[in-house]
Amino acid sequence: MKFFSRGMVLFFAGTCWIGLGNYLLSSPADPNDAAQASLGKTIFDARCSPCHGISGKGDGAASALLNPRPRNFTSGMFKFRSTESGSLPTDDDLMTTVKNGLYGTAMSDWAPFITGDSLKAVVNYMKTFSARFQNEKPHPVHISSQIPSSAASIVAGKKVYAKLQCANCHGTDGAGAGVIAKDFKDNWDFETNAVNLIEPWTFRGGSSARDIYLRFRTGVDGTPMPSYAGTVSEKEMWDLANYVVSIGRKPVWKMNENEIREFYAKLDAQAKADPVERGKYLVRTIGCASCHSTYTDDLRLVEGTQLSGGLTFDLYPFGKYVARNLTSDMETGLGNWTDQEIKRAFTQGISRDGRKFLPFPMAWPAYASMKEDDQNAIVTYLRTVPAVHHKIPDPEKPNIFSYLWGKFRMLILKERIPSPAYPMKEATEQQPVSQISPSATKNFAARADREKEARP
Ligand code: HEC
Ligand code: HEC
Ligand code: HEC
Repeated sequence: MKFFSRGMVLFFAGTCWIGLGNYLLSSPADPNDAAQASLGKTIFDARCSPCHGISGKGDGAASALLNPRPRNFTSGMFKFRSTESGSLPTDDDLMTTVKNGLYGTAMSDWAPFITGDSLKAVVNYMKTFSARFQNEKPHPVHISSQIPSSAASIVAGKKVYAKLQCANCHGTDGAGAGVIAKDFKDNWDFETNAVNLIEPWTFRGGSSARDIYLRFRTGVDGTPMPSYAGTVSEKEMWDLANYVVSIGRKPVWKMNENEIREFYAKLDAQAKADPVERGKYLVRTIGCASCHSTYTDDLRLVEGTQLSGGLTFDLYPFGKYVARNLTSDMETGLGNWTDQEIKRAFTQGISRDGRKFLPFPMAWPAYASMKEDDQNAIVTYLRTVPAVHHKIPDPEKPNIFSYLWGKFRMLILKERIPSPAYPMKEATEQQPVSQISPSATKNFAARADREKEARP
């Protein structure tokens, strides 16, 4: 009887040989290890900690306003992997993320700055934040051989899309039409959205058929996006991947004039059909909550205060102004205001009691140029924001003498009093807290990137 085939013997021999090789190469007392660890830490502390935090908990100074939040590495859970659901990512997965970044999030592509040994060092350092990396090994997916795209494969893939009910979260058209499940939270308790599958350039895990196959084959760990391993045959999985690739639309920057017109007409129709979603989107992209929230002295957002006001603007010599409570609280928020009053406040700068706002820091003259439908959508959305009881103090305005004295100091004596009201070149090293926080600015930049397709 023959217990071992020749192939198996060769396989065993190979494994032993590789094992021995690894053993010889990885002498644990290697002085290079210490150097690598310290290199990794140096890079991480300088480049990654502003978002991911010094101890990798995802709580860096810039983190609070980011959506999605920077990953908390201590949980040892990663979204974009080539490994089975729940498994650790491979080093290659992590390096790919760091090199390419995650589109539409604050996680930028580090390829231009971190390469070779530095890249390995920072990834190894990152892995020290979770004990999982010492105790477990990643389980790479066995990727079956890819079935090339064809008309037949795409038709078959459409059926798999229906069978696996991807539409419940991504919509029948992949772009959210008729979705059943909408408001998702991730395992870290932050809001997340099902990806718009017709905009492949926004996929963080890549947009090739192989990338898409890996996403639903392995799931996006820590989020409601499940793993579909074992649910359908390998052929069906490739058909599905080919189908998802096929529904990708042209990005606006590749459309001709007619296509652009049609595209925006369709968006307008959608906005009318679902004003709450549209309003939420606008409030997010304009960043109303960046001002209308409370911050600690070191400019960290106080959790749960979003849109309930609190950020104070010291607009010398005009006085101190506090961003107000926009939640639907009856007493301290907008609960008692009419739609018209809310709209008038952020488009004409007039409060409910008739008080005029300064044209800064809130850029209400700019909001006035928004389309009427969009202004209404913002009001509709603000109505749905749960009430937070938070009384905002009235502005502290100077009397006419201190106001004139302030202007005299700034304009005639040219004293360096930094104020967003009179931005002076020399004042830049000592920007006042009253300006939008650095994290907010970063957040705007991240959003601007995500909204590359912002409407004209
Ligand atoms: C400006 C903020 C910011 C900086 C700086 C930053 N990241 Fe991130 N990072 C993020 C955000 C936000 C996410 C989460 C994106 C998501 O969930 O889609 C993230 C996610 C990750 C992930 C998780 C990917 C996954 O599959 O779950 C890794 C790994 C990562 N970052 C590594 C790094 C490294 C290494 C550095 C430094 C070289 C770095 N990041 C710097 C914001 C940042
Ligand atoms: C229960 C809701 C739900 C279902 C069902 C679901 N998804 Fe998802 N999907 C999500 C969410 C939420 C995300 C975003 C996860 C995150 O990063 O926070 C996502 C992300 C993705 C991504 C990753 C895009 C990227 O950024 O790289 C792809 C691809 C995807 N889904 C395809 C599918 C396909 C195909 C199906 C059906 C087999 C499916 N999804 C079923 C909720 C769902
Ligand atoms: C740059 C910071 C900033 C941004 C961004 C901002 N606001 Fe304001 N907003 C303020 C400040 C400060 C006030 C209070 C002004 C005052 O009291 O004179 C205010 C007042 C308001 C008021 C009046 C509320 C009241 O009780 O009087 C409304 C409504 C409002 N903002 C809505 C919005 C909306 C909607 C957005 C987004 C489209 C937005 N704001 C964006 C800073 C901002």
